[in-house]
Amino acid sequence: MTQTPPTGSSASPRTALVTGAARGIGAAVARQLARDGLAVAVVDLDEADCAGTVEAITAAGGTALAVAADIADEAAVGAAVARVAAELGPPTVLVNNAGIGPRAELVDMTTEQWDTVLGVNLRGPFLVTRAVAPYMIDAGWGRIVTMSSISATGDAARVDYGSAKAGLIGFTKSLALQLGRHGITANAIAPGFVVSDMTRLSARRLGLDFDDFQRQAAASIAVGRVGQPEDIAHTASYLTSPHAGFVSGQVIYVAGGPVD
Ligand code: NAI
Repeated sequence: MTQTPPTGSSASPRTALVTGAARGIGAAVARQLARDGLAVAVVDLDEADCAGTVEAITAAGGTALAVAADIADEAAVGAAVARVAAELGPPTVLVNNAGIGPRAELVDMTTEQWDTVLGVNLRGPFLVTRAVAPYMIDAGWGRIVTMSSISATGDAARVDYGSAKAGLIGFTKSLALQLGRHGITANAIAPGFVVSDMTRLSARRLGLDFDDFQRQAAASIAVGRVGQPEDIAHTASYLTSPHAGFVSGQVIYVAGGPVD
């Protein structure tokens, strides 16, 4: 039996909150969840940057709200989540997507970089999930999806990023265990190479043309191509749907092939 999520007091749609949704994977997830019938809070550092995603959703007949917040800032997260609940309705779907991935050799890595990367990539999802979870508990239903990475299995270029992304897997499994009795599932998506500003920036930092960078990456991917943001969005769509109620504490590698 598929447990049906509660709707709002009238016939209002369920509300999803997607972080880092101004561009890239987060924008594709936000657009997909809106197509799935959810009202979507498009959260990113800068409200103006969220306009493109919000306009794409509203132009297609959906409902979206741009909300500025640095997810590593506790006060900003509290204010953002309260605003979403007041203006769109209590969030019962959360996609922890925002992340950063600068490169630095371990011996050159400053403590500040480590703290910043862990602050956004690990502390951020904690702060947002802690702020959203009470609404899910009240509703007796919720879906949490967190963006890990194949870097969780080791990343030669980014020990900070790899550590944070591995931490998110422990975070996800722990959430699944703790919140399951409230009808809440928690899962992680671990993408492989996905075309976005993040991978574009990596190519630039390595001094590579982006098309060449993609071709090189595709050569070692089983399906012979790199990922698109929509590949991740479709996975998030399933994991946040009512049909995925018996899938929890899992890591879904969306990488075009198996990952060790
Ligand atoms: P992106 O760099 O294109 O977009 C990330 C978004 O997060 C940006 O809009 C940025 O402004 C926002 N953001 C960054 N710091 C923030 C903060 N402190 N508070 C609020 N928003 C913040 O990145 P992309 O590629 O779309 O990645 C999305 C997620 O997927 C990230 O968590 C990333 O680590 C993960 N990922 C990406 C892969 C890829 O190949 N692109 C592979 C594996 C994981």
